Amino acid sequence: MTITRTLTAGRFPAVRMRRLRSTPAFRDLVRETDLSARHFVYPMFAVPGRGVRREIAPMPGCHHLSPDTMAEEAQEVASLGIPAVLLFGLPEAKDEEGTGAYDDGGVVQEAIRAIKRAAPGLMVITDVCMCEYTSHGHCGVLVDGKVDNDSTLDLLARTALSHADAGADMVAPSDMMDGRVAALRSALDGQGLSGVPIMAYGAKYASAFFEPFREAADSAPQFGDRRGYQMDPPNVREALREMELDAEEGADILMVKPALAYLDVIALARQRFDHPIAAYNVSGEYAMVKAAARMGWIDERRAALETLTGIRRAGADILITYFAKDAARWLREG
Ligand code: PBG
Ligand code: ZN
Repeated sequence: MTITRTLTAGRFPAVRMRRLRSTPAFRDLVRETDLSARHFVYPMFAVPGRGVRREIAPMPGCHHLSPDTMAEEAQEVASLGIPAVLLFGLPEAKDEEGTGAYDDGGVVQEAIRAIKRAAPGLMVITDVCMCEYTSHGHCGVLVDGKVDNDSTLDLLARTALSHADAGADMVAPSDMMDGRVAALRSALDGQGLSGVPIMAYGAKYASAFFEPFREAADSAPQFGDRRGYQMDPPNVREALREMELDAEEGADILMVKPALAYLDVIALARQRFDHPIAAYNVSGEYAMVKAAARMGWIDERRAALETLTGIRRAGADILITYFAKDAARWLREG
């Protein structure tokens, strides 16, 4: 009797994995990963002007919005139960130093104020980087034709301060300069903004999946590429070092970007750090699903929700995604 038990316990036919999959109720009961709008951050692109609402070609469903139309969109985002937006800006004019980034009357600063008036409860996070504002399209200032780390730090700090002054709830440096989190932290603290957290793009890879975004943000480098500052895709230990440094410099949230080709990085970050982990489901990842769905090759809703669930399962607490609005609706419909 005992012998038979040891032989059969834990195996077929005593064990049948299908039992707990047999009905929707069982599947709900044992579901390990939850997906809800409260984890979402919706990225938006601010442009100058009034009444502007222009669809971004490689990112169907996403628009260039002027501060007024962005404020309306922000109300919609908030009404869907999405807690936060992430702002990018396309300035009126670009220059060598990217001065538009820290212009207190700049497009992102105006968008922050408009959103805060229209949807005060919605969290506004801002991307802090130079590439949308520099004429050369690189994420920092050039010295002798190269992106100079240390002289960029001051401009990033000024940008973060300008965003926080305009009412941003959190700043998210995406430039990948060394020492930027410390530079932002001390600048914010020095201006009485010690309550503003930093979400650091800790492990940001030089990725092919940013391509649609570069059209959206008009931020393609005019020469060379970003491989001298963004991470090399084959490296994961280096990603952990990057995140460790950001954590030591005072980052409140650590981000991995892109998400899908880097789920292992998300999973390791989850194990290594107790910080909240954010994952950026980037423009190319969005565009691929959209394009395949348009061709009728994939079910957009199922593919998008499966993708987002997978990023959560890998260990991300926060999902930055262009699917946020649609996914919130789909989840609401059940
Ligand atoms: C700017 C920035 C980029 C993205 C976010 N911030 C582009 C880049 O680094 O080239 C990409 C976002 C996306 O693809 O959705 N540094
Ligand atoms: Zn950049």
